[in-house]
Amino acid sequence: MENQKKVMLSGIQPSGDLHLGNYLGAIKNWGARAEAFDCYYFMADMHTITVRQTPADLRRRTLEQLAQYIACGLDPEKNVLFVQSHVHQHAELGWVLNCYTMFGELSRMTQFKDKSAKNADNINGGLFTYPALMAADILLYQPDFVPVGEDQKQHVELTRNVAQRFNHIYGDVFKVPEPYIPKAGARVMGLTVPENKMSKSIPEGCVFLMEKPEDIQRKFKRAVTDSDTERCVRYDPEQKPGVSNLMQIYAACTGRTLDQIEAEFDGRGYGAFKPAVGEAVIELLRPIREEAARLLSDKAYLEQVCRTGAERASYVAEKTLRKVYKKVGFLAR
Ligand code: TRP
Repeated sequence: MENQKKVMLSGIQPSGDLHLGNYLGAIKNWGARAEAFDCYYFMADMHTITVRQTPADLRRRTLEQLAQYIACGLDPEKNVLFVQSHVHQHAELGWVLNCYTMFGELSRMTQFKDKSAKNADNINGGLFTYPALMAADILLYQPDFVPVGEDQKQHVELTRNVAQRFNHIYGDVFKVPEPYIPKAGARVMGLTVPENKMSKSIPEGCVFLMEKPEDIQRKFKRAVTDSDTERCVRYDPEQKPGVSNLMQIYAACTGRTLDQIEAEFDGRGYGAFKPAVGEAVIELLRPIREEAARLLSDKAYLEQVCRTGAERASYVAEKTLRKVYKKVGFLAR
């Protein structure tokens, strides 16, 4: 009974390359969700242009990211994968919901405050009303759950408020979704600054999914270890954040426990440990990199995925949009 499954939806900004922290922390577990949920994932390209983009780069990254997600286990047969701008209902419902979202609410969004501080020369209307478009992205599909990170919780909260406000006026049009905070995966820290989460803003400490094995190995060999004198592989995130992070990564790649890892490298020091972690990461990422590269060389296939995804999404979205247009008083075509 396909349509008795709960529905889940999430948007992904095609704004950068995926890295090991994204994979081990989250994406790795997404493929398995399709067993229990009807899942929709889209490349949120309409959100990305709230910050100035180079058009050719945005196009390339949208396709690359789609390929990488598929390679990470999001099967396009089992999930609805699509590009936001291919489904015109997002923009249309976005406009309507703009008229049901308050200036004061939008002003309180911390992401707006952060992004306008970072892009002081381009504080455009889209950056400000972005949460209304995000509400539309979500509500079109009547999902039960919206899996998001901490930084997006406020936007899901706003979506709930907008849905409730609309329903209060017009009756039950929208399902009011719950934020879904996924079981935490591994928390991967940077290789050069192990006090901070791995981030593409420090590329030398960040391992990208598409990176060549020799570059990955170089980054691990140069990974910061700790300045304590014992120089042994022991888990102690407070005193030894660098080594502990490498142990976490090694554990996530090999399925070994921290105790087993301590035993494996007992008496061997960092010189043996760091390349071993590099090797384990290379082997973990190899099939993903190869599959993504293969998909990217098959543009016809990726276009087919986009087309099928957009058709399936549009079918569902149109039902909601039609109801909304009728409720607000638009004349039927
Ligand atoms: N705003 C999200 C981000 O910046 C991306 C996004 C857009 C999204 N629309 C969404 C996430 C709908 C969940 C649901 O990461």
